[in-house]
Amino acid sequence: MDIFFKVQHWRNQRKADRIEGLSLGMIPTMGALHRGHLSLIERSLRENDRTIVSIFVNPTQFDNPDDFSKYPIQVETDIETLRISGVHYLVLPDYEEIYPDNFRYQVIENEESHLLCGAHRPGHFNGVLTVVMKLLHLADAERAYFGEKDYQQLQLISDMVKAFFMNVEVIGCPTLREESGLAMSSRNQHLSPIQLEMASQFNQILRSAASSEEATNALRQVGFRIDYVEERWGRRLGAVHLGNVRLIDNVELK
Ligand code: PAF
Repeated sequence: MDIFFKVQHWRNQRKADRIEGLSLGMIPTMGALHRGHLSLIERSLRENDRTIVSIFVNPTQFDNPDDFSKYPIQVETDIETLRISGVHYLVLPDYEEIYPDNFRYQVIENEESHLLCGAHRPGHFNGVLTVVMKLLHLADAERAYFGEKDYQQLQLISDMVKAFFMNVEVIGCPTLREESGLAMSSRNQHLSPIQLEMASQFNQILRSAASSEEATNALRQVGFRIDYVEERWGRRLGAVHLGNVRLIDNVELK
């Protein structure tokens, strides 16, 4: 696996691979990799000649500085995981590489980014869309893979790619879950054993409740603080807090 710290070095590599006619799949991440990320990587490895992963904890998508400073960082372990997975390239850019303009230019969506997570995390999706547009341009990949756990993010990215005529196929992949039903997430490692048990009820309640109101009441009773439970895109989506940890999940409506 080749590791690139500089955007320009990556671009030189991609140019060379293009001349050879090699297709590329990209998986943008913020690191703290888990089996959910690995499932995206496995799919990309099947569908492309080369696979690239980026690890960049994007400061502009954190509305809360405390959340940013506590975001789990484990680059050495991630590099080891990626080497074993068979990924060809890893980009590990720093802030200056990604934001030479210091976030002067931004991608802003004016409707759906204000709903659900956007209503509770002001500016979050401006940061997500801006960094994803930059990463997709840099990667110059045929395909990019995102998890369905962040369903609103996936919708907004797919729509952005269409709106800006970007030359990449966005592929949404199913959420990987623990046996308890808890969606895999880098944030789960901040949960205590008792909170982990409580957290497993999040998915169970989203799935089994007859309505969003019923789910909200049941989640409240378990002890979650609730940002929202709402239905959209044929799914029931929710965001809840357990202590300092914010969890999101969604289920398909039957
Ligand atoms: O889903 C994530 O990990 C991040 O929001 C992403 C897409 C890598 C952008 O920073």
